[in-house]
Amino acid sequence: MKTLVSVIMGSRSDWGVMEHAIKTLESLGIAHDVRILSAHRTPNALTTYMAEAADGGTEVFIGAAGGAAHLAGVMAAQTTLPVLGVPMESKLQGLDSLLSMVQMPAGIPVATFAVGKAGAVNAALFAASVLAATHPEIGEALKSFRRAQSEKILSDPDPRKPAPA
Ligand code: RP5
Repeated sequence: MKTLVSVIMGSRSDWGVMEHAIKTLESLGIAHDVRILSAHRTPNALTTYMAEAADGGTEVFIGAAGGAAHLAGVMAAQTTLPVLGVPMESKLQGLDSLLSMVQMPAGIPVATFAVGKAGAVNAALFAASVLAATHPEIGEALKSFRRAQSEKILSDPDPRKPAPA
């Protein structure tokens, strides 16, 4: 299956959070690729990968990094495809990562999500929303995810009862 979403993280230390993006893409049946590549530690390999991924059919990129989190901005500078940024938790609780990503100067946008797991999950869901316009089966998977999410809450709405295992 052709890769539609390419996920790049700056370090192996980001995996514990970013595995939630991968699990979400898997649950929606979205073909994806995932790599550790760094804007500052492996700049040439990042550039090569960006070009190869776009040529190979990637339609959305997700970039995750922490600290001086320039990875997603550097990715966005190399493609006109959508780049979704996930700021990683850091020594400054992710505020440095968040601001590095969200404060892109005008001209090269990075669609920036919440710090940590919520951002990882939502970046994957947003990638699905982007793809749904041209891949109806992904739109259906997204609707089904939303239905299941609602049903889970509505089937057990009493907060005084312990959560089901
Ligand atoms: C960033 O620096 C990575 O994305 C990671 O979030 C952070 C720390 O990296 P390590 O020092 O743990 O490799 O480039």
